[in-house]
Amino acid sequence: MASKLKVQNNKGLWHGRFLTFETIESTNQWVLDNPKQCFDGDVVYAIEQTAGHGRFQRKWISQPERSITMSMVIWPQSMHDPILQGASMSTALAVRATLQEYNIESMVKWPNDVLADGRKTAGILAEYDSSHNILVIGIGINVNMTANDLSDPCLNQQHATSMSIQTAHGFNIAEVIASLIKNAETVINNLRKTGFEQLLTEWTRYDYLAGRKILVSTKDGFLSGSYSGLNENGKLRIIDENGQEHTFWTGDVSIKNID
Ligand code: BTN
Repeated sequence: MASKLKVQNNKGLWHGRFLTFETIESTNQWVLDNPKQCFDGDVVYAIEQTAGHGRFQRKWISQPERSITMSMVIWPQSMHDPILQGASMSTALAVRATLQEYNIESMVKWPNDVLADGRKTAGILAEYDSSHNILVIGIGINVNMTANDLSDPCLNQQHATSMSIQTAHGFNIAEVIASLIKNAETVINNLRKTGFEQLLTEWTRYDYLAGRKILVSTKDGFLSGSYSGLNENGKLRIIDENGQEHTFWTGDVSIKNID
């Protein structure tokens, strides 16, 4: 059950409204369940989520004042709107830019992670409902979480870190959100202006997988080999030990010999 909703404007940082729930199951799910209540650009923020999820329905925890769990609502302008292709990747780059503003070096890991010191600090979950033409981009950031907060073995936040673990100090959640909204507005506008190809170029600047041996797991099995970048559609390319190239739309990627 969702708690009372507070609606504010975004103080000029972003073109939509800022909707806050004290407690909600999942901000992504709320948008998907209530498409008619959402306008383009709305940001739905939960102080606490009780059933937050990541890719493959994995559990995603959120804690008041310790994490950011929010979703951005986008109404794609057409079926060719590059946001449909680049939602997760552009948002990961926006999160990276926000961490950089706080002097936290981070990299992006295909398809939807932001890693600081090689450990997951944020995850993105983009979901599209074609019947209502609504795209929801969920963002989870570990801000003030402690190692203990992140130690639950059932979490998708294993091997995770937080902004405060990385810097040994705490952060003001509202300030981090403001930075994130501003950076998201910039990357999404750029994506729409310059297209997906330019986003791929930007991605290569911060690509955590570059030059690594990786293991990709999908529901059909595993494949290991050398990461060979992303193709023009954003699919992951991997060269196996026989020199054969394989591409993936989806999957979990781990680093061989390190993870
Ligand atoms: C992942 O790493 O698999 C993605 C995690 C995405 C979590 C965010 S938190 C806000 C939004 N609501 C959800 O239930 N999930 C996303």
